[in-house]
Order: sequence, then structure tokens, then C-alpha cells
Amino acid sequence: MKSKPMLVLGLMSGTSADGIDVALARVSGQPPRLDAKLLAHTSFKFPSEVQKEILRVAEGRQVTAGELSQFNFRLGELFADAALAACRRFRVSPGRVSLIGTHGQTVFHQGRPVPFFGRPTASTLQIGEPAIIAARTGITTIGDFRPADIAAGGQGAPLVPFADYLLYRHEKFGRVSLNLGGIANLTVIPAHAKPQDVFAFDTGPANILIDALVSHFTRGRQRFDQDGALAKNGQISLQLMRTLLRDPYLRQRPPKSTGREYYGRGYVKELIALGRRYRLNSNDLICTTTMFSAISVIDALHRFVFPKHKINEIIVSGGGAQNPVILQTLSMLAITGTNPRHLYTAAVPGEISIMMYEAGTRSRPPITVPKHALVSVRSSSTLGVPTEAKEAFAFALLAYETFHHRPSNLPSATGARGPAILGKISYGPHR
Ligand SMILES: Nc1ncnc2c1ncn2[C@@H]1O[C@H](COP(=O)(O)OP(=O)(O)O)[C@@H](O)[C@H]1O
Ligand SMILES: [Mg+2]
Repeated sequence: MKSKPMLVLGLMSGTSADGIDVALARVSGQPPRLDAKLLAHTSFKFPSEVQKEILRVAEGRQVTAGELSQFNFRLGELFADAALAACRRFRVSPGRVSLIGTHGQTVFHQGRPVPFFGRPTASTLQIGEPAIIAARTGITTIGDFRPADIAAGGQGAPLVPFADYLLYRHEKFGRVSLNLGGIANLTVIPAHAKPQDVFAFDTGPANILIDALVSHFTRGRQRFDQDGALAKNGQISLQLMRTLLRDPYLRQRPPKSTGREYYGRGYVKELIALGRRYRLNSNDLICTTTMFSAISVIDALHRFVFPKHKINEIIVSGGGAQNPVILQTLSMLAITGTNPRHLYTAAVPGEISIMMYEAGTRSRPPITVPKHALVSVRSSSTLGVPTEAKEAFAFALLAYETFHHRPSNLPSATGARGPAILGKISYGPHR
């Protein structure tokens, strides 16, 4: 039975707290033959004092229940404004949109149970009240996707692998979907995969440390390293890279997830102190940290993915895909093929040190690369999903599934005991 296509908006703000990404999708059918097309996307920056407050709360600094409650509703208004402004930009009347899926803003995430008042407890909190979004837009809004997975024994994350699986599964190619947001996370989709073959985890930082360093060194005048300009003016410090690669998070086995709780203020302070100790200027520190984001991804692939699965392609999305230093580093041992839209990366176990050396000298590696190791790195845009819209698109799909009473967590990715229907529904006014 073919269902009538629905227009669904996806709203997303990630750990970077840079702003709200909005995606408009047309969706019909059901998995495995879900038919989903991204029609349009846009984004809205948070006012700078709102971003500051999100970062403050998400770092676990003091906040009263009253402030948190107020912030939840205030962010709800901002998400609603973003949805309505996006409809105007897209020239789609909100009356034609059937559904909104909103991720909200994570301010706390504890995916693994830890002792709390005498009992192991896991929990997660996304704010940006869906009832406000439904009331302001008149569109039924589904939010709060993560708690249902935690209730089913999962880590409540990652949830995007469901969309990755639908969008990127390939009969012959093993693929890794890599999202470079505040945190870098990847989804492994082996060739010819079934849902239970998919796994996913956070590899470590993508932009979170870079953004913090840039804010620090520009005294808040810049909030990120636009097009990697500062990193490009720096040199890699091998000494610092070696220290960073000892980060215990990298060794931790998946499933694993991380965030501002770990790569937050404390980590950045230490990074700045190391920079001083090794006598690095600010650009060297930013350069090395930027390359660390890419190298920690490659490191994770060697540790946890390549030994088990043949991977042909890495499909990159998220704001970090706009940073050429991250992408070039990802592709460091690479041979550029004939198609200039693709970068090729050849990853050989244990060659990270050579990559680092190469980055400093910017000459070709003195090794020959076995052909089977070739992995092409491509932007998600080449597969019809603009890099900045991937996650918002994913939450539109998750909302569509929930609306149809279907589960959309992948237990193999979150560790849940079984499938769960995700989210909570706020109905729009009766039409
Ligand atoms: N042109 C660019 N050059 C370098 N970095 C960029 C660029 N555009 C975005 N970014 C980085 O991407 C981050 C936002 O990425 P995003 O995918 O929205 O992450 P999140 O999901 O954590 O919000 C910004 O904070 C910034 O670090
Ligand atoms: Mg963002």
C-alpha cells in the first residue's frame, strides 16, 4: 500500500549550539522502502547570548529548576520562529506541512547508567518545548526522541543511524557515514547490510575544541575557524599530537558516546596549558587540534571498523565538512583520482605518524598504498544530502516513523534491548 506523501520539517541543534538547522522533506512509504526526498534546507544562528547560555548550562554549570524551565520554553519559541521563517523562505505554507520532528537542544546526556541515589541511572535532556512549537506553527510536533531508547536500555544515542541506513545502504559498497558536528560520530553500514548489522559511535571531537580555542584566542570575536583559515596558518605540533592521541576516550570500545561533559571547559583549559608548555602559538594549537579531529576519526576506523568490515566510502556531513584542514587530513594518505569532486584516502594501519609528518611537510608519503586499503571520502552532498542538512533531515524521518507508530532506534547502534517507538507528540490546534 502506498501512502500519500507527507511534508515534514526536521529541526536540529547539536552540541556546537551554533544555531537551528531546518530541513523540509517529502516522505512516503515505509522502511525498507521509505521514499524520502530533501526538498529544501536552511539555518538560523542563535543570538550570541542564547548560545552562551546553552554552553553554560550544557557544561553543567549552576542553573536552577526555574531557569531551566524558562529556558525550555524560550528555546521552544526560537525553534518555532525558525520553523515559520523556514516555511517563508521555502515558500511553503505551514498549513501544508503535516509534521515537525524536533531534536531540541541537548543540555545533559548520560547514556550509560551511573549510580544516582542508590540506583544506576541513565538519562538525557533535550530542551526547546515541542508544545510551544506545535502551538505557534499549528503543526503537530514530535520531540524528545531519546528517552524512549534509554527506557529500553539503550544509550539514547546515536539516533541518526536509522536515517543513514535508509539513505546510504549499498548492495556492494561498505560505507561509513561520518558527521562532523561538535562531536564526530560515525555510522558503519556494511555492504548489503541488514538493520542489525549497522553500528555507530562517537569517535571524539570534531569542532567542539576548535570552536572553544577560536573563541578563546579571539576573545569571543570569532566563534569558529571559518574555512580553516587559522589552522592553515599554523603548523602541526607532533609533540602535542602524540599527547592528544593518548586520550583514553579513543581507546574505549564502542558503543560509546561523548559530549561537552568530557570535551568541555576542563579539556580546553588543559589543551591551552599544553600549548603554552610546548611553546605553540595560537594557530599551531588550532592547526594541531583540527588535525586531531580528523586523525581521531581515522584512528577509530583502524581500531574498530576496518578489521571487521570492508569500507569503500566515507560519506562526510556536518559543519566540519566545511573545514578543508579536517577534510585534507582525512584524505592525507590519499591519491587524488581523476574525479576532482572526490578525494581519496588510503588508510594503512599504523600510518598515522606518517600522516602527521606529511601534514607538516605537505609532501607525498613515501609509501605505496595497497589497493584494497583505498577508501574514497565524499561529501554527503554528492548523494543528495547537503552536509549542513543531514541531521535535520534525519529528525524529519524519525518523526515520520513515530507518527506511523513505527520504531526507529537501531538497537545495534544504541544498545537498546529492542526496538522502541521514539518521541512524544504535541498536537497542533485542531484543523
Ligand atoms: N565554513 C566553515 N568553516 C569551518 N568550520 C565550519 C564552517 N561552517 C561550519 N563550521 C563548523 O561546524 C560547526 C557546526 O556544525 P554542526 O554540524 O551544526 O554541528 P552541531 O550538530 O554540533 O551543531 C560550527 O560550530 C563550526 O565549527
Ligand atoms: Mg549546529
